Amino acid sequence: MEIRKITVLGSGLMGHGIAQVSAMAGYNVAIRDIDQSFLDKAMEKIKWSLNKLVEKNKISSKDAENILSRINTFVDLKEALGNCDLVIEAVPEDMNLKRKVYAEVDKLVPEKAVLASNTSTLPITEIANTTSRPNRFIGIHFFNPPQLMPLVEVIPGAKTDRDLVDATMQYVRNVGKEPVLCKKDVAGFIVNRIFIPLVHEAAWSLERDSAKITEIDAAVKFKLGFPMGIFELADYTGIDVVHKATAEMYSRDKKVINPCPMVEELFNNKNFGQKSGKGFYEYKSGTYERINLTKEEAERYNPLRLLAVAVNNACWLLTNDVCSKEDVERALKLGMGLKEGLFSIAERFGLNNLVSELRKAAKTHGSFYEPDATLVKLAS
Ligand code: 3HC
Repeated sequence: MEIRKITVLGSGLMGHGIAQVSAMAGYNVAIRDIDQSFLDKAMEKIKWSLNKLVEKNKISSKDAENILSRINTFVDLKEALGNCDLVIEAVPEDMNLKRKVYAEVDKLVPEKAVLASNTSTLPITEIANTTSRPNRFIGIHFFNPPQLMPLVEVIPGAKTDRDLVDATMQYVRNVGKEPVLCKKDVAGFIVNRIFIPLVHEAAWSLERDSAKITEIDAAVKFKLGFPMGIFELADYTGIDVVHKATAEMYSRDKKVINPCPMVEELFNNKNFGQKSGKGFYEYKSGTYERINLTKEEAERYNPLRLLAVAVNNACWLLTNDVCSKEDVERALKLGMGLKEGLFSIAERFGLNNLVSELRKAAKTHGSFYEPDATLVKLAS
């Protein structure tokens, strides 16, 4: 499979970033969205990001010009798909919408093209089966912001050809990212199986531990080594994205997540995080904005329960042979910017303490917290 031209469907948070990193690697890119105003906004964001990279001497201003010249925007789907080799779909996480998009794409896309979805939680096999070419369909899951996060999860569906998996891993390397193979098409793949439940657990902690939001976030940042607090990250990712991912994952697997109503409330009130000016926190600028978290506040909160839930879900991945322990560590470092491996943090807190914490939580709050067999084994 030789890739020259890539068509990205959807110009939102992920779509524009995927288009940018592809153009930075020398590919010709078409971005398609349903309204020119969305595309104009996407191009503004790409220009902002390229400027940042120029400021930091990562690329020259001539490079930035060349990158921009490789990106074209389209509202017309047929024109966007013309002569493309790879389609990366990054439309909102709604199966009915994806079904509609693929029905149109199927009629217009060149025979040679491979179809890929950047879905974060929908089953790859199910999306692939809505097309006429499930063997030429694969999951390519980037992380926000695609310009800075080095991880891409590669998820084959049940019918994906083996050569396509290899070619996709190569495309990911070509755009300067590191692929991690998610061997099974499970809810949330690798990283979201840990990230999304953690947002809910943090929200439960706000209620149950009567801790301050910035204390929990500071503890996540300074005691667990995350680059952002977990509420800060949820707002940055988008509460709409977190909510939709929750609904999808929970509908497929009740064990993956213990949904806290606070997230749905934020979503229903259109408090989508940074993009809407309010989520768990309030924002002033409408662009990239960080929360001021301090080490002093971190000292006031013990994030043991949060860590226990994260490690428990990581162990579920191992028990179910979705990926190796090394892959979990690599994925979290590259996809969420963790400074230390999750299992290494777990050892620092004591695996036995995590098991005890989970058993205590299971007694009070139900079977979601039952420790996974792999965690119990590791702790013994
Ligand atoms: N392009 C270029 N530069 C960017 C940028 C972008 N898209 N976004 C931010 N920057 C710049 C900032 O403006 C800042 O520039 P400055 O120094 O001139 O102010 C610089 O990058 C560094 O930013 P910060 O000072 O905020 O420092 P950090 O070291 O914390 O880096 C981060 C920022 C890379 C976003 C880091 O905080 C991080 O890794 N956060 C976690 C992100 C994460 O977990 N992503 C995954 C979410 S899950 C997901 O996406 C899956 C989905 O399916 C839900």
